[in-house]
Amino acid sequence: MRIAVDRESAIPIHVQIARAIREQILKGAIPRGGRLPPTRRLAESLGVNRSTVVQAYQTLWSEGLVEGHVGRGTAVRPAGTGSRTPGACPPWETLFVLEREEEDREVREFVRLIDREDLISLAAGLPAPDLYPMRDLREVLDDVLAREGKSLLHWCPVEGYGPLRERLAENVPGATAGDVFLLSGSTQGISLLTRVLVAPGDFVAVQSPTYLGALQMFRSAGARIASVPVGEEGIDLDMLESVLSRTRPKILYVIPSFQNPTGVTMGLETRKGLLEIASRHAVPVLEDDPYSLLRYEGEDVPTLRELDTRGHVLYLSTFSKILVPGFRVGWLTAPSPVIERLRTAKHLTDLFTNSVGQAVVSEFIERGFLDKHLAAVRDAYRKRRDAMVRALRRHAPQLAFTVPEGGYFVWATLPPGISGRELLREALTKRVSFIHGEVFCPDGTGRDRIRINFASHPPEIAEEGARRLGSALRALRRGGRRGRPEQEVSARPIV
Ligand SMILES: Cc1ncc(COP(=O)(O)O)c(C=O)c1O
Repeated sequence: MRIAVDRESAIPIHVQIARAIREQILKGAIPRGGRLPPTRRLAESLGVNRSTVVQAYQTLWSEGLVEGHVGRGTAVRPAGTGSRTPGACPPWETLFVLEREEEDREVREFVRLIDREDLISLAAGLPAPDLYPMRDLREVLDDVLAREGKSLLHWCPVEGYGPLRERLAENVPGATAGDVFLLSGSTQGISLLTRVLVAPGDFVAVQSPTYLGALQMFRSAGARIASVPVGEEGIDLDMLESVLSRTRPKILYVIPSFQNPTGVTMGLETRKGLLEIASRHAVPVLEDDPYSLLRYEGEDVPTLRELDTRGHVLYLSTFSKILVPGFRVGWLTAPSPVIERLRTAKHLTDLFTNSVGQAVVSEFIERGFLDKHLAAVRDAYRKRRDAMVRALRRHAPQLAFTVPEGGYFVWATLPPGISGRELLREALTKRVSFIHGEVFCPDGTGRDRIRINFASHPPEIAEEGARRLGSALRALRRGGRRGRPEQEVSARPIV
């Protein structure tokens, strides 16, 4: 195969490679069914990065010119063949592009288990519907629709509903409405930032453990995960220094306050240290902050965004945890070059965020309803946390944990010899669920940990959940029957 690469050309090298191979395929110089050289070999012979060749092959794949099989490499597609029979049902399993199918299957499997209607779920990362401010929401929704319903239902700017951007900017020092970008949940923020910043093979540095949804997003973009232990301070700064200098990641993703899943909050000095290290290595920090307003005791700590003097922090937050997840309203602030890129990525994804949801949230804040709601949920969640802690100490004294000062989660250590996965299996037979720790831990730890949500249920249900959990622990300690999960009822997102 003849490929000439012109390093002086303005045309990117992967485009040149794809173009050369395309021409040879279309002219028949590489026959249908013929193999392309392995990416590593071609990269070596051309003196380019392997990822450049991978990108060229992906272009050809997306044009339908080549097909790839794990273990067999990339070959020119035979015309009109393949496993598709004209008129037959599409062979879905052969069409999906799933790079980490095994893991995905495992996650799907346990999502089916944790949220069955017949059990007490201490698994979800969702707020408590019994605390939703329904009357205030209905009033605001009615008024907003009466006032500007027709325009809201028509369209909305890609970057978000203007009044909400202004309102959010007021609470971020130094920010203007132009720095605020509205999202379909903070999930979309992680997804879009991954799309614009992370190429296959890039490193992303994360705390371990960390939010499972973010891990899945980074992995599905082909990123390599570099992990830094959370420890008692929220992140181990010595390890961070070493990980950043060894891997030079594209982003450092952190949850500084009431972390999911550990509930740990970084202190002020740790935050300053983190920013200093990230800026020394010129690594942007993605600060994911869904929980900091849910503090039940102790002093507030400034966000990384507030401490950042150099424009290093991409700050991400959401109304999913402090109000309701159903509006799908999240937001971020970022320097203008990032906002520019996000505008295009968002446009290509879903045009704009749910405009009625944004307007309701905006008006909800304007009328002082959010402050009122926050005061109410902080009070309720503090009581629920205390009730769960009491219940766990009473019914499951074998668990060791630190009481979190806010957020939703207790991160508990199991007695020696019991794994979270094994306990979950037993717990499902007792009709209680939680999430076993290893799914949050990219460094392979967490087998002896579980995440328990204390916010979702009123105290009497927490009491019963803890009682069932204690009984599952005792059954395992006695070396009793290892339970088999029953059939699933429905699947919900893991958050
Ligand atoms: C740390 C973290 N980030 C992001 C999300 C996603 O939130 P949203 O509903 O805004 O997409 C969650 C939800 O659990 C979370 O815990």
